[in-house]
Amino acid sequence: MDQNAMLNELEPTVARLLDKHLATSKEWFPHELVPWSQGRDFEPDTEWDPNEVAMTPAVRSSLFVNLLTEDNLPYYFRTIETLFGRDTAWGTWARRWTAEEGRHSIVLRDYLTVTRALNPVALERARMKQVEKGETPVVDVVTDGIVYVTLQELATRIAHHNTGKLLEDKAGYEVMKRVAADENRHHLFYRDLGTAALELDPSAMVLAMERQVRDFEMPGTGIVDFESHAMAIAKAGIYDFTVHHDSVLVPVILRHWNIEALEGLSPEAEQARARMVKRMERIARVGRRFSAKRDQNAEAELIGASA
Ligand SMILES: [Fe+2]
Ligand SMILES: [Fe+2]
Repeated sequence: MDQNAMLNELEPTVARLLDKHLATSKEWFPHELVPWSQGRDFEPDTEWDPNEVAMTPAVRSSLFVNLLTEDNLPYYFRTIETLFGRDTAWGTWARRWTAEEGRHSIVLRDYLTVTRALNPVALERARMKQVEKGETPVVDVVTDGIVYVTLQELATRIAHHNTGKLLEDKAGYEVMKRVAADENRHHLFYRDLGTAALELDPSAMVLAMERQVRDFEMPGTGIVDFESHAMAIAKAGIYDFTVHHDSVLVPVILRHWNIEALEGLSPEAEQARARMVKRMERIARVGRRFSAKRDQNAEAELIGASA
């Protein structure tokens, strides 16, 4: 099916899912979640001291990447509007989604500024670099866009929530939980849209899934030192191959979209499905190896510490 035809066919579903999203949305305010009493004034040249807040480097990496990802919103909006269009329910959704995403950087930055969990100067410099670059994962086909955002919103939800669980601060946990809940609602919107797209053109959707599972990148690509932060995040178990496989790919691709039960696929889509299932098994294996190594290292560290 041609891309414009797909956008037109899906428009009533977008309108229905948007209505459902709005009807079940609960208004919330960033300022109510920020622990303002922890804040203080400081002179412009005050050096940031990491000892101000006890936190592992991995959790700092995760907060840094999560906030800078949210800061890159202008470019995600551009991608989504270009891909899905600005008129009809598609545009109404894109703008509502943008307004909701804007809250995430507000609440995260206010929380981090007040608690000084991150170096505010380094953070602002990284934000400038990130937004000046305007880099995002490249998605230029409608089906690929639907698959990518479905996986990405769920991945982001898990990354935020797992980061919150590692914060030794109730207010911080509540901030991350609130943002994660929004990401989950975005995920559900796109996942259900994906289901409708699968009914319209299963072969095109399976081909898109195969490409997106193969090339999936977290949206933080382009952030200063992204690779080393991503490695720290994986080593801390916040987001790694096992999480990606068990909590994103399997529940969405295999269970919800149930791709193994699809019938009537084109020969090309049949092959893509088989390749994708194999790739997912490989991701699971790599994840198990990575987790086993991490556990061994943690054990060695414990033994080293007690010797
Ligand atoms: Fe967000
Ligand atoms: Fe989101």
